[in-house]
Amino acid sequence: MHAISVETLSPAAYYDQSVMLEDRPNGYILTAPEIPLSEELLARLRKWSFASVFSDGQVRSKPTYQGLQDQDAGAAALQQDVADQRLAEDANTAYQDALSFVNSIFKEYREEGLVNPRQISDRVKQMVDQVRSLGHHLLAYSEFKNPFNSYLVSHSVNTTILAISIGLLAKRGAHQLIELGTAAMLHDIGMLKIPAEKYENAGELDEKERKTLMAHTVLGYRALKAFPSPDSIPLTALEHHENVDGSGYPQQLKAEKIHDHAKLVAVVASYDAMTGARPFRLRSAGHQAIVDLLKYRDKRYDSQMVMALVRILSVHPIGSFVELTSGGRGMVYRSDPDNPRFPIVKVLQDDSGAALGDPIYVQISEDSGVAVKRSLSADEASAVGQ
Ligand SMILES: [Fe+2]
Repeated sequence: MHAISVETLSPAAYYDQSVMLEDRPNGYILTAPEIPLSEELLARLRKWSFASVFSDGQVRSKPTYQGLQDQDAGAAALQQDVADQRLAEDANTAYQDALSFVNSIFKEYREEGLVNPRQISDRVKQMVDQVRSLGHHLLAYSEFKNPFNSYLVSHSVNTTILAISIGLLAKRGAHQLIELGTAAMLHDIGMLKIPAEKYENAGELDEKERKTLMAHTVLGYRALKAFPSPDSIPLTALEHHENVDGSGYPQQLKAEKIHDHAKLVAVVASYDAMTGARPFRLRSAGHQAIVDLLKYRDKRYDSQMVMALVRILSVHPIGSFVELTSGGRGMVYRSDPDNPRFPIVKVLQDDSGAALGDPIYVQISEDSGVAVKRSLSADEASAVGQ
């Protein structure tokens, strides 16, 4: 691959081969031949001082569809089969059950000061099985409703799902997966000792409020230490805001001193916080959140953990919104880690912008006739998602 200076990139240009963030195989694909470079992406690269990107391709004024031109766009529409639909419903049920469970354990801790790690790890064991069997259906959690209307509850469930997914990808043993999932579910439990309006409500935080929030790590550690559980569970609560370069809190630990589970939870919890509708933070689209995480690799985050998340979420993260070359807009519904450019997109709007009563599932592939044209901005995505 050759290096291309970011300064020379122009928005709306296409490259006839993928453009990568780094000069190495299986790295992060910034844009594919059918997707133009966007002003938003260029701004982000400049903001994070990426001097160069890498590609084997040449700049073009038009997209290269690699065999897509002669195909009938309609041929790509999939019938979501009955079995698949059932799995999606099962995932929704599993997600709702997980939300209610987390809501109830948080309530128990808030009202009675009790944590029952055994009961929680039994429930996490069930979630490991669900993540294993429902895979991408559960990773599409941003589609599901959260009746509890609580950021902390959904953030804890989402973090657990992402952490278990990465643990499965890394082929961790059953025991390790349960411990990791439990640590993820409880990582922010210390927040419950802080008034809810500090972390649930709108508004920028001042210095004092930020300091109050930072205490949730130590508060969580103390809460979990009071009950018998493997060390990694309180340690994840304590260390998930440590940065691998020693610039985090509360102890400024460096990489080798931070527990592995805490390093993993740091990455997935940050991703969820960046992409979720957290009131005091501007929601960033999945694609941009990943570029941000990559930028902080080896500074805040453990490099391997970030790459594992990238592998799971790929170039078009599940739950992110895209526009297709056929004109429709929708949400990335399924993504294949071995073939990240070709997700299945749940199309919610037709090319005139009208909402579809029944969504159409479209498989993006070299020969399907439809490609992803571009990622939608957060504002555009919320208009499609409504
Ligand atoms: Fe936290």
